[in-house]
Amino acid sequence: MKIENTFGIDVEARALFTYDSEEALREVLSIIHEQYADLPLLHIGCGSNLLFLSDYKGVVLKSNIQGINLKEETKDEVLVEVGSGEICDEFIAQAIQNGWFGMENLSLIPGQIGAAAVQNIGAYGVEVQDVIEEVKGISLKDGSEHLWKQNECGYGYRQSIFKEELWGKYAITRVTFRLSKHFEPKLQYGGLIKAVEQAGLSEQNLTAEQLRQVIIDIRKAKLPDPKEQGNAGSFFKNPIVSKEKAEQLLSQYPQMPHYNAENGIKLAAGWLIEQAGWKGKSLGPAAVHDRQALVLVNKGGASGHDIQRLCEAIKKDVYERFGINLEPEVNFI
Ligand code: EPU
Repeated sequence: MKIENTFGIDVEARALFTYDSEEALREVLSIIHEQYADLPLLHIGCGSNLLFLSDYKGVVLKSNIQGINLKEETKDEVLVEVGSGEICDEFIAQAIQNGWFGMENLSLIPGQIGAAAVQNIGAYGVEVQDVIEEVKGISLKDGSEHLWKQNECGYGYRQSIFKEELWGKYAITRVTFRLSKHFEPKLQYGGLIKAVEQAGLSEQNLTAEQLRQVIIDIRKAKLPDPKEQGNAGSFFKNPIVSKEKAEQLLSQYPQMPHYNAENGIKLAAGWLIEQAGWKGKSLGPAAVHDRQALVLVNKGGASGHDIQRLCEAIKKDVYERFGINLEPEVNFI
């Protein structure tokens, strides 16, 4: 059975199951434990952050749990529980329409709600952890339900407990968001204020719909549409280096983009890759996107290994030039 993935890589799994409720998931799990007990199990979302190196010799699970449930409302905030199979961007659009704010900057990020909570998706100065209240999941081993409060999710930059120690152990079923009823645009990310001005909008009277549209336009200009050219968004994480390392590089490259992060200085992997000469370059059927060097694309017919080969070549050159080890953001399967 074909596995959906935005890199457009042709891969199959031994079996694929979807479920639309907790009960259905438990039923599916009992079938899997009976019929496929010795095969590995992989839970996917829309496959927008996965790189398959070969066919998957196991069983793939996917959530189709729908539903947007307003759990609590005060004059300032709402708590909304969303099914893990809902499309994240569709929920954001709906939330804005309902007057629930906080996720505008995450507009157009591909993927499902469950995967967003696993990956701690982020863009333009907002991470989904900023609006998550709690996450519910079901153990793939025994079907028991578990709830993690936001501070138990181990969130960091593109990081969570679900990607680390709990990887492969739970299916995320529902995510509760705490959203504000008062729109406060977050425009501190480099270039956002300028983009708002260039769109002829005013920072003072900006609406959430307008901000969403600005973000959508930036993403469309920089990031290739996976339907046209296979890709998984940013392929690498932006590296976080020590202050000393950043200063050393800045003395050589004063124009290098850099940002303060919790545990050091964050550099722009796209800039490093561009400086290393890779922007727009190809290696066989795999290429570096010509408008955003952090994105690797499938030019057509690439295998996971073709993409991996390009990834290794870039890593080597960036390391030789800057002494920085780039880490993939995408999960290799
Ligand atoms: N840059 C270059 N050359 C490039 C790409 C970027 O010089 O080819 C420079 C830009 O000029 C800018 C800096 O690098 O000064 C940052 O670029 P950009 O704003 O495009 O963002 P990014 O750091 O490359 C990150 C996220 C994106 C997210 C954007 C906006 C990661 C790994 N990526 O990219 O997330 O949309 O910021 O917040 O953190 C994703 O995770 O899939 C993703 C697309």
